[in-house]
Formats: sequence, structure tokens, C-alpha cells
Amino acid sequence: MNSHGRMHITMVKKMLEGGRACDKCLQAEQLLRNKGLWDKVNEVLWAVEGDANSQGMLIAANKGITLAPFFIVKNENGTERTYDSVLKFVKECFGPEQSSASTSTDTKDAAPDPMNPHRSEEMTLTESALAEISEQLQNSSPQQIVNWVLGRYGKDCTLSFSGAEDVMLIDLAKKSGHAFSVFTLDTGRLHPETYEFIERVREHYDVSIEVLWPEMVKVQDLVRNKGLFSFYEEGHAECCAIRKVEPLGRALGKYRAWLTGQRRDQSPTRNNVAIAQLDAAHRGPAGPLLKLNPLATLSQQQVWTYLREQGVPYNPLHDRGFVSIGCAPCTRAVRPGEHERAGRWWWEDVTKRECGLHVAPPGANDGAGP
Ligand code: ADX
Ligand code: SF4
Repeated sequence: MNSHGRMHITMVKKMLEGGRACDKCLQAEQLLRNKGLWDKVNEVLWAVEGDANSQGMLIAANKGITLAPFFIVKNENGTERTYDSVLKFVKECFGPEQSSASTSTDTKDAAPDPMNPHRSEEMTLTESALAEISEQLQNSSPQQIVNWVLGRYGKDCTLSFSGAEDVMLIDLAKKSGHAFSVFTLDTGRLHPETYEFIERVREHYDVSIEVLWPEMVKVQDLVRNKGLFSFYEEGHAECCAIRKVEPLGRALGKYRAWLTGQRRDQSPTRNNVAIAQLDAAHRGPAGPLLKLNPLATLSQQQVWTYLREQGVPYNPLHDRGFVSIGCAPCTRAVRPGEHERAGRWWWEDVTKRECGLHVAPPGANDGAGP
């Protein structure tokens, strides 16, 4: 119930090829959120590009609407109105005082037409946009965070897959119904069980997993000069830089958003991991790369409860005392009571047990908290 009588509001959004929402739909949603009106929307239906039978496309055809998003408002007395301008919708349904916003969010006046597959410019992420995103996601569940980012970026969002947390993210991504991308870094030093696990995940979720390898010449030079186990003597930084960090940069260059399975209680180096941040070390093709850590606030136990309840595949090494799993020569099982990362680079100081995949923005160990 609101001051304008009981209304049922449907928002029809456009889903672009690749599975993400059109930018005008995202802007309209943001405008409603900013005005505290998002809760008034009772349902969201999708007009899926290239799928004339999707619910939203059928309604658009039925009503002769060619713009997205649009709103259908049904009143108690059975009358129905349709708006293809978010500002007009806000003004007529919630009063003129609510409608004083920049017309740049008004889909009716905007060009080009967002129902057109050839959509307009990329939205560039700024620090202030990040602040809004962080606020929006602060109290969201991992599923809601994944739904949000994949709804926005679809296949332009990638998920870096390696461990148990990452399969939880793949499970959540599948449940979101949106498209997404997945990659894994094959350092050449993984356990046989890990390779089998990657294949199990690929089959279980029927998901394409891009595998990236290090540059052959760099690996050859390292091994020729320092042998296969230089990390035990000199620390892991050089080997990780070649086998993990460089390929990561290659992987991320194609995407606009990145999902990782980092958790705050994994390590003293991660206790400020933000839910949303701009990646401090990598950029996407269109500017800053949005990095999301939807599991940041979860404990190891919460992750494992989810995995078991949902029947999610896991690396069989976990049944042999391994907890955090990386490359074979740098990972060992942990004893009861030991910290979960005690089996990673165990010969090095605890504050150095990061391989360099996750670079902290200035002033944080990995971003400001949400
Ligand atoms: S590491 O820095 O110690 O190696 P960790 O194993 O805790 O990282 O994993 C943290 C996150 O980094 C994972 O959730 C995943 O997003 C990413 N990651 C780590 N290793 C890989 C890998 N081999 N391939 C892809 N992503 C990885
Ligand atoms: Fe090399 Fe060990 Fe790093 Fe793997 S974890 S890249 S083997 S130093």
C-alpha cells in the first residue's frame, strides 16, 4: 500500500546478448533505488535480446513498445498504465516531487534506443559509482551479489576458479540464470587431483572453463637458471609472478568485472577484503575493472555447509587434510587446529603468503571494507 493506492508494478528490462542488462535499465533501477522506490517494483521481467518468446519480448510486442525499460502499473480497480519513461512513471505514480532528476535517465529521451542490440557507450566506473555499488551490496547475500553483477555484466564478468569457494561462486552463478565466464590458471604444477576436479566442475555445471598457461619462454628461463624448486630457497614471488600473475593479467584484460572467492578470515593479509572494489592492478578493455568478493564475510564453515547442502563438487584432496590448495610443491595438508592457510608456502612468513593475484588498493590490504 502507498499513498497513491495499491499498485502492482512490473518492470520489463532488456537482457543483452551475453546475459547482462542494458545500461538504461541499470540506470533506471539505480534512479529508483536512489529515490527509495525500488522496493515498490513487485516484479522484474526480462526482454531477452534475440528471444522473441521471452516474457518481456512478448509483452513488448503485445503493447507495441520498442523501448527498454518499461513499466506496467496495475491499480486496485483493474486499470493498467504503461510507461516507457522512468521519470514519467515516477512522476505519475509517486508524485511530482519525486521526479526531479536528470533527464539522462529518462529512457524516452535517450538515444540510441536500448531495445536496439547495437547499444551505446560503455559505462565507465568511477570511485563514486563504486561507493554506491558498495553501499548497495553491503548487506546483500552472496547470491544477491552474484545476481547483481551478472545481471549487469553477464559474460563480461569472469570468475577465477581454483578452490572450494570458487565452485560455490559457480554454483551461485548458475542459479542466477545469467550468463558468465570462468577461467583458471594452470601453473603447470597443480596436483593431478586438481586437474580432475577442474574437469568434474566443467561437466557438473556444463560450463566452459578457459585455461590459461604461463609464457613458455619465461618458465624455461626460470627453470634453466634456478631449477624447478627455486621457491624453497628464494621465496615464491618470482615463480608465482611467472606462473600465475602474468597469465592473470592476460585473462582479466578482456573483462569488465571479476568475481573471486576471497574471504576475510582466510588470512591476516585478507582481513580487509572489500565486497566491491576497483582492481588496483588490472584494467578491463573499457576502463577500471570491478572486482567483487561476494564471500568476503563468510567463514570457512559457512562455505562448506553450502557446498555439502547443495551437493557441490570439491577437490578430493580436501578429504586428505588439504584445506587451501594451490600448486603441488607449495601446498601441504594441515594438522587439526592449524590455520587453513598453514599448508601454503609454509616455509615463509605468514604475512608473505600471497601469490600476487590480489593486489591491495592503496591504504588497504585489499580494498576498504564495504
Ligand atoms: S592464492 O593467492 O593463495 O593462490 P587462493 O588459493 O587463496 O589464492 O585463492 C583466492 C582466490 O584467488 C580464489 O578464490 C580465486 O578467485 C583466485 N585464484 C587463486 N588461484 C587461482 C588459479 N589457479 N586460477 C584462477 N583463480 C585463482
Ligand atoms: Fe610456483 Fe609455488 Fe607459486 Fe605455484 S605456488 S607458481 S609452484 S611458487
